[in-house]
Amino acid sequence: MYKVTPIYKSQNKPMSVAVLISGTGTNLLALYEEQKKLESMGEKNYGRIEVVFTNVPSCKGATTAKELGIPVVSLNSKLYFDIIKRPPDDNTAREFYDAAAIALIEEICIPDLVVLAGYRRRVGTLFLHRYRNRVLNIYPGDITKSYLIRGVEAAIQALRAGESAIKCTVFLQKENERFGPALVQSRPIDISGLKEEDIEKIREKVRKEGEWKILPFAVHHLIAKGRIGVDQDGNLYLDGNRIPREGIQLTEADSN
Ligand code: GRF
Repeated sequence: MYKVTPIYKSQNKPMSVAVLISGTGTNLLALYEEQKKLESMGEKNYGRIEVVFTNVPSCKGATTAKELGIPVVSLNSKLYFDIIKRPPDDNTAREFYDAAAIALIEEICIPDLVVLAGYRRRVGTLFLHRYRNRVLNIYPGDITKSYLIRGVEAAIQALRAGESAIKCTVFLQKENERFGPALVQSRPIDISGLKEEDIEKIREKVRKEGEWKILPFAVHHLIAKGRIGVDQDGNLYLDGNRIPREGIQLTEADSN
């Protein structure tokens, strides 16, 4: 039997969260709204977003965060890689960029959990070592599907595979793996009758019916409560019981 270590040990105080974004930041907002709801209910164990980091300083999510009063730190990745004349996927430069990001984040707080919420950069080894087993990511599709390839949107791939419904997934980010172990999946989101040209509508549906539910659930109701553990092989546990490969399946009741 492997030793299971909690991702976060609940201490009767809010868990400190850093959120990394590159875009509209709607998942950040969903996380924040659940935080506020739990705070107002007098809850002790939940995630408190203490800092937002972005590689796209002009993104909408950064504006949202500032308006909410959350400290925002940024390092423009496009400028950074232009200046050092390296491609953005250069692995050595990635480590330097990530080190600078860590320094900026930790000027504000040492996070208990890092959430990649639409962060459009791959984090490298240094980053994943610094926050070992504490980096959460979200994917707008079902990471257990074998048809997934890089570079094509999850929903498009699902449509091409003939799926009539899709799930989205919160997972633990692992080194050298595209997806780590699945933590939570949404209920199936109906896409029957929709086509590739309806992609904008599908994106909306996936966020609303899926991502905005599973991400706050995973952060505030599972991890911040100390319910999720990990063993030395990276397998996840809920209250000491192994989580299946597909992750915890969110039910209607969980998301209310
Ligand atoms: C989400 O669909 C997420 O799964 C993907 O990027 C999108 C981010 O949306 N990685 P937002 O910035 O939270 O609105």
